[in-house]
Amino acid sequence: MKAIILAGGYATRLRPISYVIPKLLFPVVGKPMVHWTLDMLKKFGVNEVILGVNYLADLLRAELGSTYDGMHVRYSLEKTPLGTAGPIKLASHLTKLHGTFLAMNGDVIADINIRRMLSHHLKTEASITDALHEVMDPRRFGVVELDSAHRILRFVEKPNLNEAPSRLANAGIYLIEPDVLRMIPDDRKFSLERQIFPGLARQRRLSGFTFPGYWFDIGNLSDYQRANFELLSRKAGKSTLQEKRSKVSNRSALRPPVYVGRGSRIESGSSLGPFVLIGKSGQVGKRTRITKSIIFDEVTIGEGSRVDGAVIASNVTIGKNVKIERGSTLSPYVQVGDGVRIGENAVVHPYKEVATNVSPGKHVM
Ligand code: GDD
Ligand code: MG
Repeated sequence: MKAIILAGGYATRLRPISYVIPKLLFPVVGKPMVHWTLDMLKKFGVNEVILGVNYLADLLRAELGSTYDGMHVRYSLEKTPLGTAGPIKLASHLTKLHGTFLAMNGDVIADINIRRMLSHHLKTEASITDALHEVMDPRRFGVVELDSAHRILRFVEKPNLNEAPSRLANAGIYLIEPDVLRMIPDDRKFSLERQIFPGLARQRRLSGFTFPGYWFDIGNLSDYQRANFELLSRKAGKSTLQEKRSKVSNRSALRPPVYVGRGSRIESGSSLGPFVLIGKSGQVGKRTRITKSIIFDEVTIGEGSRVDGAVIASNVTIGKNVKIERGSTLSPYVQVGDGVRIGENAVVHPYKEVATNVSPGKHVM
C-alpha cells in the first residue's frame, strides 16, 4: 500500500521553534515525530510514502532522504500550500494511485491497527474510511455523527460546543479509494474536512473506524509536551531510557521517567527528572537540576543551572548558574549567558543571545 503524509503548513502554533524546525522533525522521545509515523506505516506493510511538503521542505528531505527502513520516500512539493486535499491530488500525479491508499496528517502519533482499519474499510465499501478517536474538547477537531453501521452521517470541522454532534474526532488518518481524486481540483487549495467529507457523509460514502489505542495530535506546545511525557511514561515506565554512547555520572540522580539520548553526557551532582528528555549529543554540567522539560539535540547546559518545565530546542547553549523557569521556550541556536534568569513563560526567538534577565512572559525577538 502507498501512503501520503501531509507534511506542509506553517505550524504557526509551534512558533517560534517552527520557524527553524519543521513540525514533523520536532523530537518525540528520541526520534523526530515523522519517524513515529513511518515506523507505524512500515509495521503495516506500506512500501511507498509520499510526503506532501512546502514550507521547510529541504530540511525534511535532508533528514529522511529517499528510503526509510526499506520504504521508498518521495516528496511532492507544492508551490503554494494546497490545504489537506490539494496535496493528495498533487501526489497522484507523482505516483499512480490505483488501489486503496492511505493518507494522514503528519502531526498525529497513533497506536492504530491499519490492517483492521483496512478490513473495516473493505467491508463497508466506503469511498473513504476515517479513523476516529474520542476527545474531551471537540472544538479543535473535525467531529462526526456515526450510525450503528459505522457510517458517518455528518462531518463538522471545528464546531462550536453546541454544534458538535459527538465527541468522536477525526484522527486525521484515512483510507481512500482512488475515485475520490476526481473530486479534488488540480493546483488549488482544497480541504478534505470542509469540501470533501461533508458531501461524502451526506451520500453515505464516508465510514468511521474507532480505535482504542493512544492518539496524540500535536498542534501546540502543550500538546507536544503531553505527547512526549505520556509516550515517555509508556516506554520508560519507572526506569530510565539511556541510549548508546551516552554517559551518565554515577554521582548524578535520575528520577524516572527520564530519557537520555545518544552521545549525551550528564555530569556529577546533577539531578534529572521526573519527566525529562535530553536529545542527542547533549551536555548537562555539574550540579544542574532539570525537571519536566524537553531538551532537543546538541544542547549544552552549564553547571549549577536549573531548568523547570521548559522546552529547549536544538543547538542552544546555556551558561553556568542559569535559571529557566516554568513554561519557557528557547528556540534553536539561542545562547544564554552565565547567571541569567529566564522568567516563567518567556519565549526566546531563534539565534538570540541573552545576556540579561528576561522577565516572565516576555518575548525576546
Ligand atoms: N502539504 C500540506 N499543505 N500539508 C498541510 C497543509 C498544506 O497546505 N496545511 C496543513 N497541512 C498538514 C499539517 O502539517 C498537518 O500535518 C495536517 O495537514 C493537518 O493540518 P493542521 O493545520 O494541523 O490541522 P488541524 O490539526 O487544525 O486539524 C486537522 O487535524 C485534526 C486531528 O489532528 C483536521 O484534519 C481535523 O479534522 C482533525 O480532527
Ligand atoms: Mg494538527
